[in-house]
Amino acid sequence: MRRVHGRNVRGTWRFAGAVATRPPDAQVTTVIALGRPIRETAGPMDVTVVDHPLAARALTRLRDESTDRATFRQTMDELAGILAYEACRTLPTEPFEVRTPLGPAPGVRIPAPPLVVPVLRAGLGLHGAWVRLLPDTDTAFIGVSRNEDTLQPEPYMNSVPAELNGRTVIVLDPMLATGGSMAHAARLLRQRGAGPMTGVCVLAAPEGLRHLEETGLLDHVVTAAVDDHLDERAFIYPGLGDAGDRLFGTA
Ligand code: PRP
Repeated sequence: MRRVHGRNVRGTWRFAGAVATRPPDAQVTTVIALGRPIRETAGPMDVTVVDHPLAARALTRLRDESTDRATFRQTMDELAGILAYEACRTLPTEPFEVRTPLGPAPGVRIPAPPLVVPVLRAGLGLHGAWVRLLPDTDTAFIGVSRNEDTLQPEPYMNSVPAELNGRTVIVLDPMLATGGSMAHAARLLRQRGAGPMTGVCVLAAPEGLRHLEETGLLDHVVTAAVDDHLDERAFIYPGLGDAGDRLFGTA
């Protein structure tokens, strides 16, 4: 994990064993460019910050306030695919033999695709890539909206099976701000018997990552970037605005 020391990210970041000191006025994108891809055990929760030119380009387009809705949606879908590759890196595979036109070759199958759980609404923006890459996977939905006065998650629906029997679960929510929504979803899934659980987001705030790590609910978070801080409205800064509204409007 890029471990954050100090309240507001200014200070020392740890990248996969190396230490980089972030100048106080550095741009978030500069910091991200310093890192390597990145899987470092940090207590009970790993955080992977996907450091890849295609992910960085897509994230830039999402951040850009002039990106129209259609392009925003398409770009989030592109980025979701890249994040999915990283989130699936440790999925168990099973070997079997396949026949090419020339002869036998070693192949693999994924015997137990994860349950994918988009957190409504914005999590839907990440969902298409998962069903394309893992067409046999099941999807369950959790609806939760953050009360903008109390910042508490307010659940309004869920279609999670009553018993998950240790199944691997992927929770999709592009924005991890305070972490309250992700924690709500992860708690519900734990209560229903989820096994290894990964949260996939586009942007995370250090405050949200710390909160999630303290809950001990998730094993792993995959994100395209860790931004600077939460602003006074608890929006991720500099962020990309309101992902749900940019994907689906304000109706
Ligand atoms: C936003 C966002 C996350 C949540 C993040 O959703 O999409 O779900 O807030 O905030 P948190 O980490 O502080 O809980 P919102 O409640 O606006 O609903 P929406 O997805 O329907 O837009």
